[in-house]
Amino acid sequence: MPAPPVSVRYDATHGETDGMHRATVPARARSGEQRKMDRLAGRVALVTGGGHGIGRATAIRLAREGAAVAIADLEADAAGQVADEISASGGRALALACDVTDTAAVDAAVAATVARFGQLDILANVAGADINEPPFAEQTDDIWHLMHDVNLMSVVRCSRAAIPHLLVSPHGGSVVSVSSVNGLLAIGSYPYSASKAALQNLTMNLAAEYGPRGVRFNVVAPGTVRTRVWEDRPDDLAQMRMLYPLGRVGEPEDIAAAIAFLASDDAAWITGVTLPVDGGLTGSRPVVVVEP
Ligand SMILES: NC(=O)c1ccc[n+]([C@@H]2O[C@H](COP(=O)([O-])OP(=O)(O)OC[C@H]3O[C@@H](n4cnc5c(N)ncnc54)[C@H](O)[C@@H]3O)[C@@H](O)[C@H]2O)c1
Repeated sequence: MPAPPVSVRYDATHGETDGMHRATVPARARSGEQRKMDRLAGRVALVTGGGHGIGRATAIRLAREGAAVAIADLEADAAGQVADEISASGGRALALACDVTDTAAVDAAVAATVARFGQLDILANVAGADINEPPFAEQTDDIWHLMHDVNLMSVVRCSRAAIPHLLVSPHGGSVVSVSSVNGLLAIGSYPYSASKAALQNLTMNLAAEYGPRGVRFNVVAPGTVRTRVWEDRPDDLAQMRMLYPLGRVGEPEDIAAAIAFLASDDAAWITGVTLPVDGGLTGSRPVVVVEP
């Protein structure tokens, strides 16, 4: 999500603001990632982009809830570190080098997951990327193709390879993909945002197609999340918290908690939805204040 071009505050009807940022969110309002649950015992999950950020937190969360987890990432070392971390905590994990823009690599990752763990019940499509693109009129076809390849076609490839296994899951298969509030609002980064919006429509269609056969498809749409993509823009990240009624940007664990919920039987009657996990951003009415 791009930095706001102007300073932003919330209307008084949305609560008080101190001008810079909102009240500290109490600890109890943070995601309960420390709790041990067995909601996903006996399940096997494949997490793309599991080497860093939201994907890493998702792999760890799914493992903590009892799933065996395959971590597929462009960066094999990062995937390996996450797998080691899960194994050291007593979980079952498999690291896979996989570029989600490569159909053969995706097919091989799904096959390796099933070969190792015997089944596949959960697919978490987390891998994705944005780029700093020029203004719209200067954007080349290559930029658009790149964004659609890594954010949309990646999910097509992974879902296509996983569906035969999800259809025979004894638990009912579940696919959770990560889009962005950029897919819900007009906030710039057009090629990225359009690819995420398309992902949400793909999910509705797959949910309708495969729901009768027991496979659910849902999307989580995060707001700003503190991952390495913001590392070189700490000032932008700090400013971002002003956009969020809950007074902070998201942590990877906030998104992982929502993914785990949608993957679990707690969401057994939920399919085809895009769930914003965004500290209230998309449900609120910001007031834009243009500095003199
Ligand atoms: N961080 C945010 O503010 C934010 C907000 C909304 C949505 N998202 C979405 O969340 C997802 C994860 O983002 P993040 O912030 O955790 O980023 P990140 O860079 O921390 O992690 C992304 C992971 O995906 C992997 N990856 C990238 N391209 C890949 C490819 N072609 N094949 C396999 N793996 C690949 C990377 O190696 C990395 O491990 C993305 O889909 C992103 O669009 C992030």
